Amino acid sequence: MSDQKRTFIATASAGLEGVVKRELQKLGFEDAKAELGGVRFTATLEDAFRACLWLACADRVLLIVAEGNVQSFEDLYQLVLRAPWKTYLPKDAQIPVSGRCARSKLMSIRDCQSITKRAIVDNLQRAYRTQTLPETGAKFQVDVAVHSDVARLTLDLCGEALNRRGYRTWNGEAPLRETAAAALVKLSNWRTEEPLHDPCCGTGTLLIEAAFLAAHRAPGLTRAFAMEKWPCVDKSALHALREDAKAQYDPSLIPEISGSDIDPEALKLAKRHIVQAGLGGKITVFEKDLRDLQLEKENICFLSNPPYGERLSDRKGCEALYRAYKPLLSRHPGSRLNLITSHPGFERVAGLKSIKKTRLYNGRLECEFMRFAPLNAHFERKK
Ligand SMILES: C[S@@+](CC[C@H](N)C(=O)[O-])C[C@H]1O[C@@H](n2cnc3c(N)ncnc32)[C@H](O)[C@@H]1O
Repeated sequence: MSDQKRTFIATASAGLEGVVKRELQKLGFEDAKAELGGVRFTATLEDAFRACLWLACADRVLLIVAEGNVQSFEDLYQLVLRAPWKTYLPKDAQIPVSGRCARSKLMSIRDCQSITKRAIVDNLQRAYRTQTLPETGAKFQVDVAVHSDVARLTLDLCGEALNRRGYRTWNGEAPLRETAAAALVKLSNWRTEEPLHDPCCGTGTLLIEAAFLAAHRAPGLTRAFAMEKWPCVDKSALHALREDAKAQYDPSLIPEISGSDIDPEALKLAKRHIVQAGLGGKITVFEKDLRDLQLEKENICFLSNPPYGERLSDRKGCEALYRAYKPLLSRHPGSRLNLITSHPGFERVAGLKSIKKTRLYNGRLECEFMRFAPLNAHFERKK
């Protein structure tokens, strides 16, 4: 593929667009621009593979093949027909088409999907001068998204979504997605050389993502991406990028990272995930009720995703747990707390006042991620 720059969008869940923009800029994609649900950037196709390997908080990386105003199905057909599909799709490409419509004249997702498919097939039949497209080759997932009468046609570079790092085999009861966990680590006030503890660690996602960040481990290092099978891509360039990512991984940079939980079954999964992430011996987890937790160190960064008490029947127990966070901080001088919950009254119930809040989604739940200073910070500042 040529050095030509193309436009991509790294999709992100609501509230995380700014985090993903900063990630892209740090990777050298300086023109990264946040919009609702994602961040646009330009790159060569091969260089976009770097985004696939390294983005910790984005959901997918999509190549924008065509974009334009559509008032009718005929407009959509013409937009898709004119797009440069042959640049990317070989004669035998598998072409599944997904679709989404919102606030537009075209609101039938099914019709948008089938018109898109028909136009791509017509385009390729003309381009390859053939009537038969066997669809037996590499997969090119096309998405047609129509929003406010603008249709965006994309190809998905990833295959499985980026949260599928490959270390989680079973999800536990209320797991945090890997991409959301990585975002919390980045939004927290943790400096990667400091000890970190998750007192409600569940299946260990926050711990693993924190270790990846500290060790400069590309989140996608050991998984495959759809674009690696595309004939239009220079495989040696992708190989070089993966080798470079391997060379950057340095597990010796991982500080003391630990977790505890009251549920032995969740801890079993956490242990399995830690090993599957290649982090055996680098993260410790143990069974402990947060109310009795006493670590033999100070100046810890606590990072926590406790139960939210979404069901009314769970709310009392959950609030009793929230009241235990202040004593936890008192028992660990100099330690800070970072916590996510959808419970609107966490600060009131816990008797703690956050220094920073970020609104974001955990799945469908609107949550707040809060940062709390050490309990003695005010006192120390006065001295
Ligand atoms: C929302 S889940 C955490 C999920 C985790 N972030 C993950 O990715 O799997 C909340 C966790 O808090 C734990 N928990 C509830 N009460 C606790 C307590 N008193 N002490 C310690 N852990 C507790 C639950 O067992 C559960 O694993």
